[in-house]
Amino acid sequence: MNVMSSQTSASTGGNQSGLRSAKRLLGVAFGSLIMLLSVPALAAGAAYEGEHFEADLNDLPSMQRGFKMYVNYCIGCHSLQYQRYEKTADDLGIPHEIALENLVFTGQRIGGLMVNAMAEKDAKAWFGGKAPDLTMIDRIKGSSYIYNYLKTFYADDSRPLGFNNLAFPNVGMPHVMAELQGIQRNNVCLQEPVIAENGGEKRDPLSGEPITEEVCDNLVVDEGTGSLSAEEYDQVVADITNFLHYVGEPARADRNRIGVFVLLFLVIMFALAWLLNREYWKDVEH
Ligand code: HEC
Repeated sequence: MNVMSSQTSASTGGNQSGLRSAKRLLGVAFGSLIMLLSVPALAAGAAYEGEHFEADLNDLPSMQRGFKMYVNYCIGCHSLQYQRYEKTADDLGIPHEIALENLVFTGQRIGGLMVNAMAEKDAKAWFGGKAPDLTMIDRIKGSSYIYNYLKTFYADDSRPLGFNNLAFPNVGMPHVMAELQGIQRNNVCLQEPVIAENGGEKRDPLSGEPITEEVCDNLVVDEGTGSLSAEEYDQVVADITNFLHYVGEPARADRNRIGVFVLLFLVIMFALAWLLNREYWKDVEH
């Protein structure tokens, strides 16, 4: 807020000396820098660590599958209000007719924004809160957060919808992919190998068998309750996360591609400049 106000006064203060407005400008620049730096710090405030997930913008098939999952499982509640179907299809290499037939369920045209018809007051009544627009979720909370969020729904009878979530404790969203993942339980006790100080598994010196201990912080899916295997479900979650990473900044994929050419150009220019320099100094005594 104060960044905005100092900006306006810097531009309207006609009788201020150049030095003072320059100082203000510097202040604005510095303020913006501080704000930028503090964003990751805020985002990192979440308590749950979970797995690290690195989104992959080069994996087109994964983002296409993520797009499909998103329009089937998420868009009814979560709009992507800054994203158009047409740009998404173009960026992800999907022909318009195929996209219209398989991915646009709202009767919209291909140029439409990816919005939905859920009224805010309904959402409040049904889930106790509004389902947020997810266009920026990847930029605000990061890919690892989305990945872990979609993987860590677990059964919890104390919650109104019967589910809780490790990445978002007491979440109001139902586990919409429960039929795929199955019913997951938290704090399941399993026998796990004891790790010695050197990083290896501890073994019984007589029998050679690994020594195990009971560890009770495991998430385990009840066998046979989901239609996908654990690996397949992980892939679905990775696909949706990759897709939301793309949506967070559609220009990022272009930028990565252009960046490679820029670097190649610099390498070639450097080689030419070096050769030219050598040529110039060839006949000079030094
Ligand atoms: C039935 C409606 C509904 C559906 C379908 C749904 N969500 Fe949600 N989602 C919600 C609500 C409501 C919240 C907010 C929960 C809260 O504030 O407690 C939420 C929260 C989230 C959040 C956390 C946002 C944050 O700020 O941390 C993410 C991420 C998310 N949803 C992703 C998805 C994805 C991906 C899908 C599709 C696989 C999906 N949701 C499907 C209703 C839904």
